[in-house]
Amino acid sequence: IEGKIKLLNEKNKEALLGGGEKRIEAQHKKGKLTARERVELLMDEGTFQEIDKFVIHRAKDFGLDKEHYLGDGVITGYGEVNGRLVYVFSQDFTVFGGSLSETHAEKICKIMDMAMKNGAPVIGLNDSGGARIQEGVNSLGGYADIFYRNTLASGVVPQISAIMGPCAGGAVYSPAITDFILMVENTSYMFVTGPNVVKTVTQENVSAEELGGASAHSTKSGVTHFACANELECIQHIKKILSYMPQNCEEIAPVYPYEILEDESREVLDSLIPENPNHPYDIRDAVKGIVDEDSFLEVHENYADNIVVGFARIAGRSIGVVGNQPQSMAGVLDNDASVKAARFVRTCDSFNVPLLVLVDVPGFLPGTDQEWNGIISNGAKLLYAFSEATVPRITVITRKAYGGAYDVMNSKHIGADLNFAWPTAEIAVMGAKGAAEIIFKKEIAEAEDPEAKLQEKVDEYTAKFANPYRAAHRGFIDEVVMPSETRIKLIKAFKMLENKVDKIPRKKHGNIPL
Ligand code: COA
Repeated sequence: IEGKIKLLNEKNKEALLGGGEKRIEAQHKKGKLTARERVELLMDEGTFQEIDKFVIHRAKDFGLDKEHYLGDGVITGYGEVNGRLVYVFSQDFTVFGGSLSETHAEKICKIMDMAMKNGAPVIGLNDSGGARIQEGVNSLGGYADIFYRNTLASGVVPQISAIMGPCAGGAVYSPAITDFILMVENTSYMFVTGPNVVKTVTQENVSAEELGGASAHSTKSGVTHFACANELECIQHIKKILSYMPQNCEEIAPVYPYEILEDESREVLDSLIPENPNHPYDIRDAVKGIVDEDSFLEVHENYADNIVVGFARIAGRSIGVVGNQPQSMAGVLDNDASVKAARFVRTCDSFNVPLLVLVDVPGFLPGTDQEWNGIISNGAKLLYAFSEATVPRITVITRKAYGGAYDVMNSKHIGADLNFAWPTAEIAVMGAKGAAEIIFKKEIAEAEDPEAKLQEKVDEYTAKFANPYRAAHRGFIDEVVMPSETRIKLIKAFKMLENKVDKIPRKKHGNIPL
């Protein structure tokens, strides 16, 4: 029996070494942690339970029958993050460059299946040279098995992908289907085709980092939700995201203890909106003034910054916040902002995270670029996403709510539960000047002093519509609240909506305009 125990110990030791000391050293030299070190950082100490540690590949071609590594390039298992169950796979670049073989894929599929059956998140730590080239279609099939499961698991359990090295070709499509992607600056990249192929096909000279690094995907494509300075920050972000999410679609996110104070008013909000309605301010100051201290986690921070989205807590409960950002392009809705917000709204709705929508929107961005890139379909995505969301939904109009954008931004008409407005709200078809110029065109043109006439008409329109009261008279606004009182109103309102049950008509699935 001693010999048998020794064999097990040896195998365990061998598995821990992955592709060997030398490759581990090379990994460290690149400023990257090993697959195991990452898992250890992610999980609560001593909770990680590995599965399939001794799996080896079955390939025979190109000399692979003589080269085996226990675990076959991916560490899989389960454990706890802040005391809650999660499943993880962590690709080991020291074994065949973390490339995905048939067996490597089987290991990932196994934990995904377990996660779905047991209702807990799946975290993927990606660091891979892609399909194991020596295995051909077996490897491609393995990818597809994962993509299929990513799709089935979508909306069932949270799926989070961290990109901590290469992720190229077909490999990108697993993270792409998951709920959140995080990338590490300078050591990770994602692209469908790499710089060499790009050069051949389009004659563009571009580095891997420029083409698909964290910076490119966090600012230009929006593929990644977070760009992290290093791996440690990346793993901390994963834990943070999890803290706002439930374990699965049947549960709600963890509630943090919070004692409501006698005075929850936030006076600073009363002076947030500038006197001049065309002056900008930072909507994040409104968010921070409303939600629990230090609880705001912005998502997609550097992409489409004319809209702000992120998680926060209000009286300890997780919420998703969507807010137009007046300090970027006056908070106008464009293609990127619409898609960014629509995706976030659907993520929150999938996982029972209530929505808070802060509105200061002058409308949709005009222009050929916008029209030809589909602002009609893209704006419709946001409209659709809000309309179908059954989680508690509350809107606060801080200033402008103009035109179709008023409807889209979680208006009463598309199913919002409570709609508040600040006294500074202007709910109208358009800004007063534009409106006066159109409806009083003739009168202004014929006036002795057209400038003065225009101003007179602007003032008239402003007095009538540049306020929240027309909408409040109709009940489209439930209450006009002081900015400083918004937080306490929302604490009470979200509590009131805690047990909301809402259903959309029975259907196979909706047909969101993609
Ligand atoms: N299949 C099999 N082995 C692979 C592999 C793959 N897809 N990608 C990398 N490897 C192996 C390498 O042969 C090397 O093995 P070794 O340690 O025995 O020498 C090891 O992984 C590390 O790769 P290396 O090229 O030395 O690392 P790098 O950091 O210089 O480059 C890549 C990383 C990913 C850019 C590079 O390996 C690459 O281009 N791989 C192929 C990518 C690809 O085309 N994949 C298939 C399409 S999905």
